[in-house]
Amino acid sequence: MAQLLSSSCSLTISSRNKPYLKPLNQCSTPFSVMVGCNNSRSPLRRLSLRDQKPRKSFSAVHAAAVSTSQDTPVQTSSGDPFKAKRVMVFGGDGYCGWATALHLSNKGYEVAIVDNLVRRLFDHQLGLDSLTPISSIQNRLHRWKALTGKSIELYIGDICDFEFLAETFKSYEPDAVVHFAEQRSAPYSMIDRSRAVYTQQNNVIGTLNVLFAIKEYREQCHLVKLGTMGEYGTPNIDIEEGYITITHNGRTDTLPYPKQASSFYHLSKVHDSHNIAFTCKAWGIRATDLNQGVVYGVITDETAMHEELYNRFDYDAIFGTALNRFCVQAAVGHPLTVYGKGGQTRGFLDIRDTVRCVELAIANPANPGEFRVFNQFTEQFKVSELANLVTKAGEKLGLDVKTMSVPNPRVELEEHYYNCKNTKLIDLGLKPHFLSDSLLDSLLNFTVQYKDRVDTKQIMPGVSWRKVGVKTKTVPA
Ligand SMILES: NC(=O)c1ccc[n+]([C@@H]2O[C@H](COP(=O)([O-])OP(=O)(O)OC[C@H]3O[C@@H](n4cnc5c(N)ncnc54)[C@H](O)[C@@H]3O)[C@@H](O)[C@H]2O)c1
Repeated sequence: MAQLLSSSCSLTISSRNKPYLKPLNQCSTPFSVMVGCNNSRSPLRRLSLRDQKPRKSFSAVHAAAVSTSQDTPVQTSSGDPFKAKRVMVFGGDGYCGWATALHLSNKGYEVAIVDNLVRRLFDHQLGLDSLTPISSIQNRLHRWKALTGKSIELYIGDICDFEFLAETFKSYEPDAVVHFAEQRSAPYSMIDRSRAVYTQQNNVIGTLNVLFAIKEYREQCHLVKLGTMGEYGTPNIDIEEGYITITHNGRTDTLPYPKQASSFYHLSKVHDSHNIAFTCKAWGIRATDLNQGVVYGVITDETAMHEELYNRFDYDAIFGTALNRFCVQAAVGHPLTVYGKGGQTRGFLDIRDTVRCVELAIANPANPGEFRVFNQFTEQFKVSELANLVTKAGEKLGLDVKTMSVPNPRVELEEHYYNCKNTKLIDLGLKPHFLSDSLLDSLLNFTVQYKDRVDTKQIMPGVSWRKVGVKTKTVPA
């Protein structure tokens, strides 16, 4: 049995002779990552960087562009259409963040990644691994620079540590921040009390810190925050984009759309949305909440350029998302794990659209004081429909794909009405990549290529919404 670290792990990054907050890819000395345990309440105590000398950062923008399909002119806050904006990507070492950081850099933005690498630590703690081998963040960035001439700055640290976060703001002076840096797995948040508490502390306090940092150090900065479609739940009426106009007892108002989150993770996102909405009103912060659907796929124009740029691809029951998991299950001959009746309907999108949506949000910022909400997905599917699509695509490749119904570990409706609006990003210019046969073929081929790396013991769900425990749990190794 692999011991899940009981709320009691710390990860320290140390670097000898390293100026505090010098972007880490500009450090001449190597730094090391140490994982250790203590008795703190959080699975991750804060990362510490020593030497407290803030710096101003003026990174050069290199010319060599990598061609992509949908070009958007980059606007600065001063309105100059040719000068790149400075964007900090919180969580830029993760699945969506890494692809987005490269995409924005490719598009001519100056980019800095801020990440405490906790996602990699979760893998160590839980005995999980990405289907794709992923390089260290340092090697990723060196490879990107070697291929394109473009630098992405790197700040390793925890955004829950306000001192660290404040220094990154003062040092980098971002025009926009894209905030992916959260614990983003619903099952992880439902393992036990310590993971529930960690998820809400990490997500809610991290976002609050970002809001305070913008207010204090960079009040014009546009916050682009990743929320989730899961905040809405599955109401028996159409889901609007953020707001709904209601007439009640003869009076009419436009109000935030009701939220019915169904895990401690999803609830953390609801709390975030409320905190952001409040600070837009109270402090005039400009913010876009991207209520994202379930992301699938692994390749973007940029991550496909070299193996060292490959993105992570989670297929386990804790971090893997539905379609990605089904493709891996088909590749290794495991029956597709449909939870319950499989009638759960959700919004989905290709990771190539995730990066494009973020780009569109940055290029068309919210106004000061505006709390803008976009529903960021391109198609709706029932889980059983996804399983059928993967079965057909697998048959074309000669795979014998079976489906099994697994007792649903979640508390959710298994058959329900679902009709969500998603026009705002399309209006801004999004041209969706729909889930075509050819995409499924290539995704399946990709998973077949790496199938020897699959640990089939990680496929079946082991976390139950009803049996969430007080005591720290272990999982089978
Ligand atoms: N992947 C999806 O299908 C999906 C769907 C809807 C919404 N989202 C949202 O998008 C965002 C990114 O998701 P993802 O799949 O890329 O997740 P991920 O876990 O792959 O990436 C998150 C990154 O944030 C970092 N991080 C977490 N807490 C941090 C902290 N306190 N300080 C600094 N760094 C921290 C992690 O190390 C990781 O690199 C999340 O907010 C998630 O809720 C994702």
